[in-house]
Amino acid sequence: MRVLFVSGIDTEIGKTYVTGMLARALQNQGVKVITQKLIQTGVPQHAISDDIIIHRELMGMPLQLCDLNHTTCPYRYIKPASPHLAAALSGQTPDLKVVTDATRDLLSEFDMVLLEGAGGLLVPVTNELLSLDYIAEQGYPIVLVTTGRLGSINHTLLSLEAIRQRGLTVHSVIYNHIHDDDKQIANSSIHYMRNYIRKHYPETYWLGMAIRPPVPNSLQSADAMLPDLPTDFVATLTADWEDK
Ligand SMILES: Nc1ncnc2c1ncn2[C@@H]1O[C@H](COP(=O)(O)OP(=O)(O)O)[C@@H](O)[C@H]1O
Ligand SMILES: [Mg+2]
Repeated sequence: MRVLFVSGIDTEIGKTYVTGMLARALQNQGVKVITQKLIQTGVPQHAISDDIIIHRELMGMPLQLCDLNHTTCPYRYIKPASPHLAAALSGQTPDLKVVTDATRDLLSEFDMVLLEGAGGLLVPVTNELLSLDYIAEQGYPIVLVTTGRLGSINHTLLSLEAIRQRGLTVHSVIYNHIHDDDKQIANSSIHYMRNYIRKHYPETYWLGMAIRPPVPNSLQSADAMLPDLPTDFVATLTADWEDK
């Protein structure tokens, strides 16, 4: 498993934070990992993807050459909207083969790529292609980010169904504690979703990501969010790397 696709039950759910923190946790375990962004909306075309900038900050590394030359995010659009709309408004349709080639180029330099999606799984990338269509074409295992806000159970179970229907693997579900405002709802959601996943997706990891504390040292505050990786987590990723 050299590419993991990081998706979420919705937009603004913590995909960027999870991608950066998972990369940091894997880095700490000796994996040479880089992140990539499928398509970035809401940034000027010549700018670096703002999600990539946050990934690097969380990983504690400067922007890399592959960021500066946009390999880690070949398509950027100014309108903060669904990619299919942002792309249509810009007049430049993304060619997903360019993204696939970029991932391949990154894999020649890194052991692993964490590819962050745009929005949720059924977000249209073009008029003809959903994000999940692209993931299914590539066969990437998925990391699904969820939270404890009202409505999350439904969105999580729908996302899991959609992934399973395409015959794809849910590698992990990462619960971001950012929306735990109502503790009763959050605790009950965690309990319900954990049990559901244990029963219906026994191979899937359940991890938690803490809220970033407001301490002045940014790397120290990033470390406080680190998901605790189960001991065999890295092994499941590296098991098929002999043939890389
Ligand atoms: N664990 C966290 N601790 C602190 N802030 C967070 C956390 N997760 C998300 N956020 C904040 O919530 C917002 C949305 O998170 P982000 O990772 O950008 O979501 P997405 O990539 O799914 O759109 C951002 O402003 C981010 O700073
Ligand atoms: Mg994001």
